[in-house]
Amino acid sequence: MDRVELLKQQAGVDACKFVTNGMKVGLGTGSTVRYTVMELGRRIAEEGLEIVGVPTSLATEQLANKVGIPLVELSDCSHLDIVIDGADEFDENFNLIKGGGAALLREKIVAQESNSMVVVADERKMVKTLGAFPLPIEITPFSYQATIRQLTKLLDCRVNCRMSGDNPVVTDNGNYIADAHCGPTLTEPVELEPRILAIAGVVQVGLFNNMCDVVILAKDSGVETMVNPNGRLIT
Ligand code: A5P
Repeated sequence: MDRVELLKQQAGVDACKFVTNGMKVGLGTGSTVRYTVMELGRRIAEEGLEIVGVPTSLATEQLANKVGIPLVELSDCSHLDIVIDGADEFDENFNLIKGGGAALLREKIVAQESNSMVVVADERKMVKTLGAFPLPIEITPFSYQATIRQLTKLLDCRVNCRMSGDNPVVTDNGNYIADAHCGPTLTEPVELEPRILAIAGVVQVGLFNNMCDVVILAKDSGVETMVNPNGRLIT
């Protein structure tokens, strides 16, 4: 296992310390939280942990089924106790860019139903200012070039439709992803989010503001638990 993969594993597994019997757990998407899902499956099998999960993507649903995590519909839950998910970037205010894996819409729906959000990340994801990672924006397929023009005008940067070969990437919800190459300029993500959402054709944006309570950060020197001083406390 290479260095970055090892860090992902350390963060993903460490986050499981927040999961206890009886919890309803949102299961994020990506290569870091994958280790969380596998560890929860192991604890269910080997330690008798009793939880139910809500996956944030079809890929996570498949993995959760494979490792034996019982799944429930989000619609059938009054709330979730916790969601554990990855991030593409997080800033010093614990605001996030997510959606590198094209799962941002379901991730945000699950996060807003959760009493707490734990992010698992390696040290490459910690930034002073968001935006070096292209900002993912889920958009409708209908006249998507027009939506991209609107986004380009608003953000004043290059905005591409994410492609897979010759075709746009299609999300689990049947939409497309626009990636906005803003550069590390997003100093006011809280103000920017509603302006992006106001564009017709935009389904959701990968800015997760004021949602993250804890980051489990894996560094070469060890795993750090960073608690958001303005977040909801986890005991
Ligand atoms: C999925 O759409 C994303 O939000 C992921 O959570 C994010 O891209 C982090 O993924 P990795 O852990 O694979 O970097």
